[in-house]
Amino acid sequence: MYEFQVLPVNLAPNFLVTFSWAMQANSSLAAFWTMARILSDADVLLKVQAEISDALATSNGIFSLEMLQQLPYLGYCIKESLRLHANGIQLRRVMKDVEIAGFNVPAGHDIIICPVVVQNDVRLWKDAEKFNPSRFIEREKTNSGASAMANPNDLSRFDFLPFGHGRYSCPGNVFAMNEMLLFLSMMFHNFAMRLVNAIPSADNTKLVGVQHAAPAAVCRVFHVLKQPLST
Ligand code: HEM
Repeated sequence: MYEFQVLPVNLAPNFLVTFSWAMQANSSLAAFWTMARILSDADVLLKVQAEISDALATSNGIFSLEMLQQLPYLGYCIKESLRLHANGIQLRRVMKDVEIAGFNVPAGHDIIICPVVVQNDVRLWKDAEKFNPSRFIEREKTNSGASAMANPNDLSRFDFLPFGHGRYSCPGNVFAMNEMLLFLSMMFHNFAMRLVNAIPSADNTKLVGVQHAAPAAVCRVFHVLKQPLST
């Protein structure tokens, strides 16, 4: 059970900086990779466009929270991009001696969790290098919530960590997913776009945040406004 405390006023600026950084550093890059990945696969692009049109048809053309909830496939595209372009590291300090996979880790040591390794592990992900948003359809039926947590030896319960895990996982998770759904659905609805260059490789010299996966080169997108901007 979590205990919530009122934030002391003197710490508020620190939290504001963390929030601003988290939004700018992660969501914008994750949205970039999702857009580039979608644009580089014609079948995926068609599915995304059809889903957005159908959702807008049921919401009288308004981009609302309810409308965003009608975009599961676009959500899978975001997750698949977060899988392939994961943040570099997540840190935990060991508070008491613990044994992990046969290794004794003494209290006071730091553990580095590396999502980019886990999320591309071929033992956990079929055709791990492929961008395949549909893999999340089956995954969400079989590998989420209580059933996965019931078996502590099931490695697959930690196979996807874009927002971390446990008590210190990202508090902006739901907000981030919705802001990316909103941005991407507006872009794909209002603009005809295509990649000018091939999708760039990631810059593996950065470790913190999704910045780890910043593109190593410029990725230009040709875009034309299809119609007057929707609200
Ligand atoms: C694609 C978008 C995002 C990704 C992938 C992401 C990922 C992460 C990760 C991996 C952590 C560390 C979790 C851990 O150590 O277990 C984190 C922490 C954090 N995130 Fe996000 N984040 C995103 C967007 C956001 C947004 C939009 C906000 C704010 C509205 C936010 C606020 C924070 C804060 C405040 C923390 C620190 C939490 C703490 O130290 O207890 N994040 N995020």
